[in-house]
Amino acid sequence: MSRLIGLAILLVTISMSVPTPLSAHDQPPVSWAKRLDSGTGPDTVTNLQFYFHDIPSGSNPTAVEVVKPVATASHSNPFFGEVVIVDDPLTLTADVGSKLVGRAQGMYTASSQNEPAISMSMSFGFVDGPYDGSSLIVMGKNMYMSPAREVPVVGGTGLFRMARGYAVVKSVTLNSTSGVAVVSYNVTVYTPAAGAY
Ligand SMILES: *[C@@H]1O[C@H](CO)[C@@H](O)[C@H](O)[C@H]1NC(C)=O
Ligand SMILES: *[C@@H]1O[C@H](CO)[C@@H](O)[C@H](O)[C@H]1NC(C)=O
Repeated sequence: MSRLIGLAILLVTISMSVPTPLSAHDQPPVSWAKRLDSGTGPDTVTNLQFYFHDIPSGSNPTAVEVVKPVATASHSNPFFGEVVIVDDPLTLTADVGSKLVGRAQGMYTASSQNEPAISMSMSFGFVDGPYDGSSLIVMGKNMYMSPAREVPVVGGTGLFRMARGYAVVKSVTLNSTSGVAVVSYNVTVYTPAAGAY
């Protein structure tokens, strides 16, 4: 019986700890993310700009290869089959030492036989300002050699609950020796206004 009561208390505590989406209007603004909408439409529109650092080498790699490529001579993409797990910093500027605004956690796979492309499956969890604790799910094909490519944003949590949108992604630097890639993200997301869901 007391176990049941304990379980009930635990479940109530868990359900109470699910955060209620806040209004970004009530929070101090941050320079890397802005609301674009008037606040009167059915959706909240937010633009976020930050830098992604993929660091596969050195003493503290943030991207680790967990499955090696299995490409054969029939595949012109030598990385085909590779799986990389990431916990990559997202920062305010292209300098990895600049302010941390979030972390990109998840993986990318080299899933194209013949193109320089990856499939991303990541949660971008933010740690700054009103977006602290909110996340966006970035998922889809990324043609990383293209000067600018578009990757879908398929969901989110917190302020970005039920978000949909897109990221315009551009490589800033790629060090062919270390493999370190610095990538800019310009993200536009639509989130249903409170009460719309
Ligand atoms: C590229 O990485 C190598 C190895 O870490 C480093 O020695 C070199 O300075 C880097 N090049 C640039 C342009 O940052
Ligand atoms: C970021 O994306 C928005 C919306 O697509 C666009 O209006 C803006 O010019 C972009 N900013 C930069 C710096 O590319």
